[in-house]
Amino acid sequence: MNPPLALVAAIAENGVIGAGGTMPWRLPSDLRHFREVTMGKPLLMGRRTFESIGRALPGRETVVVTRDTTFAPKAEVHIVHDIEAALAVARARASASGADEVILAGGGDLYEHLIGTVELMHLTFVEIRPQGDVFFPALDWSNWEELRRVRPPRAPGDEADFSFVDYRRRG
Ligand SMILES: NC(=O)c1ccc[n+]([C@@H]2O[C@H](COP(=O)([O-])OP(=O)(O)OC[C@H]3O[C@@H](n4cnc5c(N)ncnc54)[C@H](OP(=O)(O)O)[C@@H]3O)[C@@H](O)[C@H]2O)c1
Repeated sequence: MNPPLALVAAIAENGVIGAGGTMPWRLPSDLRHFREVTMGKPLLMGRRTFESIGRALPGRETVVVTRDTTFAPKAEVHIVHDIEAALAVARARASASGADEVILAGGGDLYEHLIGTVELMHLTFVEIRPQGDVFFPALDWSNWEELRRVRPPRAPGDEADFSFVDYRRRG
């Protein structure tokens, strides 16, 4: 069976997820949460998100989508030029390694393209309204069943309050 496609994103109250090629808040707790949720699982991401991270994250195979056939980063990542083919590569890597999910790690372009295929979402709702230029796609939330919601206290360095919420597509 195909491992499910699980979207991971941190979303501000105004839908912003990115600004100027980076995340418009500082939230160390969310970075730790991202690491926990994604460790050992293949990450699928757009070229701009990959460049904002700037490296391959340890313990996770990374599949980067770009139309640029000359794109050749130094990092050890899989480069694929078609989104569906990239998803197939990520699923194959998950099956080969026994990972229980393929992670859709963004950004806005990739979420928009693949939201119809996403089965699970691990979201962080950030209680902030920053300026931004990349937004989470509009969703019909009635299609999503909430599985878990926690609102941990802020840790040192966290700029805002936040909740971690997991969803599964209904039906
Ligand atoms: N808050 C969060 O959870 C979160 C998560 C991830 C990212 N972000 C933020 O989101 C922003 C980046 O998102 P973004 O929407 O600008 O970019 P993105 O989705 O990360 O990457 C877009 C790039 O992917 C490639 N691509 C897209 N569609 C393709 C297709 N059909 N076939 C082949 N390649 C395709 C293109 O690369 P080429 O231009 O190279 O062809 C395109 O420019 C940053 O600010 C980042 O910090 C936030």
